[in-house]
Amino acid sequence: MPPDLKPGRVRLVGAGPGAADLLTVRALRAVESAQALLYDALVTDEILALAPRACLKIRTGKRAGRAGSMKQETINRLMLRLARRGPDVVRLKGGDPSIFGRVGEELEFLQAHGVETEVVPGVTAACAAAAQFGFPLTQRGEARRVVLTTARLTEGALSADWAAAADPEATLAIYMGGASAGEIAAALMSAGRSAGTPVQIVESAGQPGARQLFSGALRDLRSLAPALGDGPTLILVGDAVGRGAAAMDVPPRQASSSSGR
Ligand SMILES: C[S@@+](CC[C@H](N)C(=O)[O-])C[C@H]1O[C@@H](n2cnc3c(N)ncnc32)[C@H](O)[C@@H]1O
Repeated sequence: MPPDLKPGRVRLVGAGPGAADLLTVRALRAVESAQALLYDALVTDEILALAPRACLKIRTGKRAGRAGSMKQETINRLMLRLARRGPDVVRLKGGDPSIFGRVGEELEFLQAHGVETEVVPGVTAACAAAAQFGFPLTQRGEARRVVLTTARLTEGALSADWAAAADPEATLAIYMGGASAGEIAAALMSAGRSAGTPVQIVESAGQPGARQLFSGALRDLRSLAPALGDGPTLILVGDAVGRGAAAMDVPPRQASSSSGR
């Protein structure tokens, strides 16, 4: 690095599930003081509005399966360039940055280039869904483990380790799985998960427009395609999940009254 360039600082900040009142105070302070903000597609307008007017805001992400995302390498270089120019750079990610947020790759890159980093945690979608729809993720004597997993398809096949997911004492939170819900249910049952296991599928958890797309048993879960809206979707599976609101269209608990995306 040339001697006249300062290494700078980048804060990798969790924006939580979308509602501004689910930001941590530390995340709120980071957003309010940011001079440059690089944000992913799941960050809501409500949260972006908290950044200063003069802040440079750069959208880096797309929703899964849609065009328009920056390559990771481009994002890394952009963060580095901005940090070296001196502004207070905030890399804002939906939920918690350490959960399917590529924070490891970004930290490694920045630290290798001498940039000071700080990670600010956020409320992950699984916690937001559980709180809003009234079920625990763990439950004494019933659910001893929580498995955060993803169902991204690799070359047409479900990529997750479904054998571990078949553990009856585990609550599964399946990220990025909405479009493959039916296949996931079939894979879980063939891996040994009981067909009667409760499932909740929540769209836009932690946001005012949150809704349950499905509430029922694993055996009844088919393709969600007709029900899918524009929001992110999380699949939760496990006996503890069955303690939540039982029917579709049940009004979410603790829904924020503030406006969101
Ligand atoms: C790239 S992952 C990012 C996860 C994020 N870092 C977190 O901790 O929630 C994106 C996936 O997370 C899930 N997700 C994120 N926000 C959500 C929300 N508000 N409601 C439901 N699912 C959400 C969806 O499965 C979505 O496809």
